[in-house]
Amino acid sequence: MSTATAPTISSATAFSSAAKPEILERPVFARLLFTQCWEDPRMDYEALQVQPHHTLLSVTSGGCNTLSLAALAPARVIAVDLNPTQSWLLELKIAGIRRLTHGEYLELLGVRDSRSRWELYHAVRDELTSDARAYWDTQRSAIESGLLGAGRYERYLAAFRRLLHLIEGRSNIKRLLACQSLDEQHRFYEETWDSFLWRLFFRVFFSRTVLGLGGLDPRFFTYVNGMDSFGQHFRRLTRHALVDLPVPDNYFVAQIALGRYLDERAMPPYLLAENFETLRQMVDRIEIVTDELGAVLKSLPSNSVDAFNFSNVFEWVPPETFEAMLRETHRVARPGARLCYRNLLVRREHLPSLDHLFTPHDKLAARLLYHDRSFVYSNFEVASVKKPAHERES
Ligand SMILES: C[S@@+](CC[C@H](N)C(=O)[O-])C[C@H]1O[C@@H](n2cnc3c(N)ncnc32)[C@H](O)[C@@H]1O
Repeated sequence: MSTATAPTISSATAFSSAAKPEILERPVFARLLFTQCWEDPRMDYEALQVQPHHTLLSVTSGGCNTLSLAALAPARVIAVDLNPTQSWLLELKIAGIRRLTHGEYLELLGVRDSRSRWELYHAVRDELTSDARAYWDTQRSAIESGLLGAGRYERYLAAFRRLLHLIEGRSNIKRLLACQSLDEQHRFYEETWDSFLWRLFFRVFFSRTVLGLGGLDPRFFTYVNGMDSFGQHFRRLTRHALVDLPVPDNYFVAQIALGRYLDERAMPPYLLAENFETLRQMVDRIEIVTDELGAVLKSLPSNSVDAFNFSNVFEWVPPETFEAMLRETHRVARPGARLCYRNLLVRREHLPSLDHLFTPHDKLAARLLYHDRSFVYSNFEVASVKKPAHERES
């Protein structure tokens, strides 16, 4: 297997997508939804235990976690997303890594202030496929305002942030981010932060109606059950992040509260200066595939993948599709391969009917979920693939 080939950028028609679940045909999946990954890469690192000889399959989304996994220097990374704009975003992030200095890269993405983002884009655009170039050529204002804030989800969070500043005020936000211990965070949260307005804010902002107005397709809620109030649910998870986990280390909290990182040491691994050179050498190992995950799995040979980062894709599909995808994952996996996935609003857990195919690592998953800095997920699943070693070469 070649480990330094040019990236394979597949078009949306590269695989047969006949069985694509209906929700995935919604127009929302054709727009740039995420320019950041709101999933803690530390969890993926511990769950997947990536080794240098590994082939990894990772849902692309904002590209961050896929790039952060690539920084571990596996042999091959297959980045999958059915939304072409997410693939073009990853192309652009890779192009920047190839062509720019670390400082320029942070400028292009919007981590550092800059007046030259459009020029920096022009310095890298030759690296893009023609589809990606055609798309980004029309996105001047998104690029000039900083890519990391340009996704639909990030713009929704910006609205959240404006209200947060009205409710808590700048000084409370500053005090929260400056807390020096969990004790201090706890006291500050209980005595100052957790006001009547804060509670009301969550109830209203995370109601299904407001989420719908913010652009979330109601069909995302098709499989939600056993949850009366999204507001209460997210307030409980947010309390955990603000009380039980160190805030200064939490770049997700900084991005939500300030729209930027607190400092350049508290950022996702792919943005850290110490990983930049490694990443530059690794990006040729990333193959970007634009298609539905089930179709991509079907297209892959048996026993070919060692680690799977599935984000939270399973909660938008019916239970039978979830099970079929896991069975296909088992076929594609090498013996002992590891997989992880998250649940945001819909429970998609290890299936007892697949006990003979997967060993769940529930204790590890629970520990990682407790420490999850991205804090909005209600469940995390980690498993390894049971397969006789003699199937290794089949
Ligand atoms: C599952 S979403 C969730 C985002 C994630 N929680 C985050 O914070 O980045 C991530 C990406 O998965 C893609 N996606 C969802 N279902 C998919 C599927 N069945 N096949 C391929 N991509 C899918 C979406 O287009 C989106 O870009």
